Amino acid sequence: MSRSHIKSQALFERIKRTVAGGESSYARLRHGEPLCMARGEGARFWDVDGNEYIDWCLGYGPLILGHRPPKVVDAVVEQLRERGSMYTFPHVLDAEVGEKMVRAVPGLDQVRFANSGTEATLAAMRLARGYTGKTKILKFEGHYHGWTDQQWISLDFVPGSSGTERAPVPLLINGSPSVMAETVVIGAWHRPEYIGELIARHRHQLAAVICEPVMCNCGVIPTDPEWLLLLRQLTQEAGVLLIFDEVITGFRLALGGAQGHFDVRPDISTFGKALGAGMPVAAFGGSAEVMALEAENVVYHGGTYTAMPMSLAASNVVLSEMIDHEGSFYGHLSDVGSRMMAGLQEAADRHGVRAVVQGYPQVWQIFFLLDDAPDDAVIDNLRSCVAYQDSDRYSVFQAALFERGVYVHPGSGERWFCSQAHGTAEVTETLAAVDEAMATVKRELG
Ligand SMILES: Cc1ncc(COP(=O)(O)O)c(C=O)c1O
Repeated sequence: MSRSHIKSQALFERIKRTVAGGESSYARLRHGEPLCMARGEGARFWDVDGNEYIDWCLGYGPLILGHRPPKVVDAVVEQLRERGSMYTFPHVLDAEVGEKMVRAVPGLDQVRFANSGTEATLAAMRLARGYTGKTKILKFEGHYHGWTDQQWISLDFVPGSSGTERAPVPLLINGSPSVMAETVVIGAWHRPEYIGELIARHRHQLAAVICEPVMCNCGVIPTDPEWLLLLRQLTQEAGVLLIFDEVITGFRLALGGAQGHFDVRPDISTFGKALGAGMPVAAFGGSAEVMALEAENVVYHGGTYTAMPMSLAASNVVLSEMIDHEGSFYGHLSDVGSRMMAGLQEAADRHGVRAVVQGYPQVWQIFFLLDDAPDDAVIDNLRSCVAYQDSDRYSVFQAALFERGVYVHPGSGERWFCSQAHGTAEVTETLAAVDEAMATVKRELG
């Protein structure tokens, strides 16, 4: 029997009367079934109609300990009740969280705290411009760094079979000044044959190359380690800084983030999401030499709410968990995620549905393939993703899971996340639903 969403619908109508679109983020605007949440706990949440869901979206990644982790709740409440919400003066949590981050992440001598990933990457790009005295930033197609004029630069391209020969054209979102397009150079990910020439051509204007060290905003695309090494080498040779946007990968892919996992050290890194386990906190940092510009206020970064003690109390707890129990913490994510990835692939193969599950056990995606995708199709960047991915099959699959109480994001360009709260029960229940959802895909779309 179909689940009822009557209360969600009514509440959403009410919200929409005063909140434009019913959501305070473009990314969360509901185009399908409205869903209003009542509460979450562990790996699950419940909507206002009382429907239960296993949550593999986890607030777009931050909830690495699951919903409402008792240690985080206690630390945040204690901070608020016993010591206060904010001082705008330094406090002991600045030291505790800063020291843990610097210890955990290879590329960090110093950090600065921010409130969101968008702020952190904005600050990182400004820092790179201040340090180098140059203006342009090279970003890659399909990489996401935030929603402001500077970061939200997409591209217009016609995907071709080889996908590299056509120059991408910066495409600005409505409301952005057109001059922003002049500050960006766009490159294609995983295309070593032309990145060297691109960086060399723009080296006198380029302040930095920014990337997600693992593409997670285009489904999930595993990174060729040689490619990251190449980016490191080329930027160093050209006098251009390398920024790793680790807002998703930081403290998730490994304690040391993607830079720890791949052993490639960027000049500046950004963090968010898992760093706060659900509280709003982000950070950027780098070598002492680069961060000296922040220390001396040569480059501005600020904000009333930066380094909020309540958020840092959450960071302090989650970082302690990761550092003190590194083996079991990441072992657990790896175990759960590996079982899920294998189970998803096995179900697709068994039902004769063309799909490939790719990514890492900490964050992954299932790509359904278009009928005309070649047998040797490889999804390794935005272009191949657009060329081969079948978002219709993904939508049918996602809706069938949703109906069975398993929540994954409706966008095929998003991804599955797991947490410490996910265990055998969630894997078993989800894979049972996956089996039925895959049968639905086969029945409806072949
Ligand atoms: C890689 C990456 N960078 C930056 C951001 C922006 O972070 P926030 O939404 O916290 O502003 C995101 C958000 O999803 C992201 O995935």
